[in-house]
Amino acid sequence: MTTEIPVETGWDTAPGLLDGAMNLNLTPEQCDLAYWLRGVAQGTLLGRVETGHSAAEPTPDHMREPGPLRDALVMELACRSVAETEATKVLAHYVAAAPGAPELEFFATQLIDEARHAMVFRKHLLELAVPEAELPAVIERVSADYTREVVDPILDFALRAVRDEGDFIGGVAVFTIVIEGVLAPAAELSERKWNVLDPAAGAIARGASIDEIRHLSVGSTIVRDHLLKHPEYRPRLMDILERGRKLWEGIPDRRYVLEREELFQAGMRQHAALIQEYEVFPGRRLLDTTPEERYALAERWTDQMADSRFAYMGIDPAVMRIV
Ligand SMILES: [Fe+2]
Ligand SMILES: [Fe+2]
Repeated sequence: MTTEIPVETGWDTAPGLLDGAMNLNLTPEQCDLAYWLRGVAQGTLLGRVETGHSAAEPTPDHMREPGPLRDALVMELACRSVAETEATKVLAHYVAAAPGAPELEFFATQLIDEARHAMVFRKHLLELAVPEAELPAVIERVSADYTREVVDPILDFALRAVRDEGDFIGGVAVFTIVIEGVLAPAAELSERKWNVLDPAAGAIARGASIDEIRHLSVGSTIVRDHLLKHPEYRPRLMDILERGRKLWEGIPDRRYVLEREELFQAGMRQHAALIQEYEVFPGRRLLDTTPEERYALAERWTDQMADSRFAYMGIDPAVMRIV
């Protein structure tokens, strides 16, 4: 018997993150536990359970050589694995606060997804020749400042809504808009940057992106449907989003992104022969881009994605526009 895999969870059929996050509308009822066990466990993850990539997507030897290219990926994976680990812990509160079976099942799967992302990012550090015994210390050293200044404040904000204030919908809005919405374009950029230089890292990023589309889409639907049924909730939602925007404005993520992109720039130059003709998007060679340009590109994607998700949720996008 063959298992029917939904288009959006098939490795070869799923859309890219931006396209999917802007155009795909999924509901928690649709994305229940059975959907996940079929479409993700037997679809997206087929042949990629252990490491997030297949044997045909290798880690080239040049990624294990000391230098800025490896340093850039070590920094990225360490920071992202901690962010995913912390997100997993916070999501336990979403499972606990779920108002019904569809939300409980969906957030249980999102919790597993984020724990899995943390795992494959960590395991790829081993494939970059970080010694296993040193892995926790390396992750801690590389990510400590980023965790304190970027990850903790936004996750604390989500926790306050969902756990302390008992506001499940507000918590979903914060997770979907402030956390996933802002981090997703960085994930898209990662996939496009590493595809050729490190096919394993490219595949790991692709797999995570397929999951993030689902998280963004279902989270948006939960907020949208709640607003349709309870228009009186809107002022509270706008208040929480406004506070989220103010919080995000004060977070120094740019410094960390640029530090990583500077390392990537130096590393990419050293390995320029491998990516001579590779285009980061149609008409733009990766080699011709600068750290600032890549940062600005991710920002632009964030705005485009937010505009389409906000339109779907029936919220004025100006509320999250960071000036
Ligand atoms: Fe994730
Ligand atoms: Fe996610």
